[in-house]
Amino acid sequence: MSFTNKPILIEKPVSDQTAALHPTIFIIFGITGDLASRKLLPALLALYSKKLLPTRFAVIGFSRRPFSREGFREFIRERLNVRPGQFKEEDIKHFFDHISYEQGFFDQSESYVRLMGKLKVIDDRWGQCSNKLFHLSVPPNLYEGILRQISESGLSKPCAQGLGWTRVLIEKPFGNDITMARTLDKLLSKLFKEEQIFRIDHYLAKEVLQNILSFRFSNSIFEPLWRTEFIDKVHIKLFERTGMEGRGAFYDPIGALRDVGQNHMLMILAFIAMDRPKSLTSENIRLERAKILNKLEKISSSKLRDMVIKGQYNGYTVEPGVAPSSHTETYIRLETRIDSSRWKNVPFYLESGKGFSESKTEIDVYFKNFDDKKSVHNPEKQNILTFRIQPDEGIKIRFFVKTPGYNFQTESKTLKFKYSDVPTFSIIPNDYERLIHDAFIGDQTLFASTAEIMASWKFITPILENWSKLPLKKYERGVREVE
Ligand code: BG6
Repeated sequence: MSFTNKPILIEKPVSDQTAALHPTIFIIFGITGDLASRKLLPALLALYSKKLLPTRFAVIGFSRRPFSREGFREFIRERLNVRPGQFKEEDIKHFFDHISYEQGFFDQSESYVRLMGKLKVIDDRWGQCSNKLFHLSVPPNLYEGILRQISESGLSKPCAQGLGWTRVLIEKPFGNDITMARTLDKLLSKLFKEEQIFRIDHYLAKEVLQNILSFRFSNSIFEPLWRTEFIDKVHIKLFERTGMEGRGAFYDPIGALRDVGQNHMLMILAFIAMDRPKSLTSENIRLERAKILNKLEKISSSKLRDMVIKGQYNGYTVEPGVAPSSHTETYIRLETRIDSSRWKNVPFYLESGKGFSESKTEIDVYFKNFDDKKSVHNPEKQNILTFRIQPDEGIKIRFFVKTPGYNFQTESKTLKFKYSDVPTFSIIPNDYERLIHDAFIGDQTLFASTAEIMASWKFITPILENWSKLPLKKYERGVREVE
């Protein structure tokens, strides 16, 4: 075994925020949907109130419903997911002055021509050719049609030579299976250049997830231990107390494996397991994440029952939008390994469920115990490093000390770093805020690349092919265990 003496990577250069100052129009396809009012508009409002948006910016909502100007404002205002007092009323009011609405049908080319006219009116008023960011806030089956229309109508073309870039933001799930993902990817690369495509996995923008890289590569005491000789297992957990919350119709055809397994959980795994990138550029980080995902050992049908559990909480089938006979899983637990000398024989457990007793996303890294080899698998005796992604963001380590007295006994203690204990750390940028900001400045680090998405589908597909053969275990809501 050899340890590297390479210099420690500490920081990525601060992004060029001034690039965001060029006039920009943010177009939301499907603005009347849940995502726009729950995530996108609050994030834009937050950026606005922090003065991180260009002075000249506009949001245009595009959807089917007819609205008067006032009716649209009211609709958005009622649904805007912000806490009372979170923003100054004055900021909200001024922010709303930047939003307008264009009624349109996703499959009708005339609607896109009208949208183009509207964008031109704004550009003329500003006397500048502005940047355009298109966000597809619609179900994935509408992506293809909208992308084609954006391209065919000329909306994706810059309005002047060397000025006014256009970018497109695509939400997960990126396809419903590997074939759909490939088709969508081909289409995207036919219509847009890679630097125009921003594939969202909002977990990539979670502060603690990003901190994993800084923590690993800035602390020389951990990186040498980050391998099979010292690590016994890794457990990634994404538990949610909530159930469907009105999203039954979206969730039922998808299930937990596609909803969070294929994306969020594998991305967490990539951050924990990836090798040191050559430098902290977006390209190199994405390359290393993809390499690790490509090395995940596939779960064959003969191993499925040993390595995968799926479950459904009691009461799921009576949720609005869910089929009464649904076999969709709301819980998954998979065991996987990585085919590399660094991670040889180290199991990675990915576990996620809705309707649990608490909401918590965290990663436990269990170290081997060298004092007493027999106790390697005894959780009571292992050092554990925990990254708490949410809530109560932080990092903690369990270690052992001698109990004071005449005997030589040890007991466990914890070293803890909680973001909320440090005033400057307690203001964590919200994930969508971060993503929109980075899309404005063109930094793709926190967006998934084609290579990563394809690698994760390659891992998930063999599991999905045998999905119906796996028994569906039932569990009670609010109870942690799935029997
Ligand atoms: C979304 C899933 O991508 O992530 C949801 O579709 C899930 O089902 C959510 O609840 C979890 O994200 P967060 O940021 O609330 O942990």
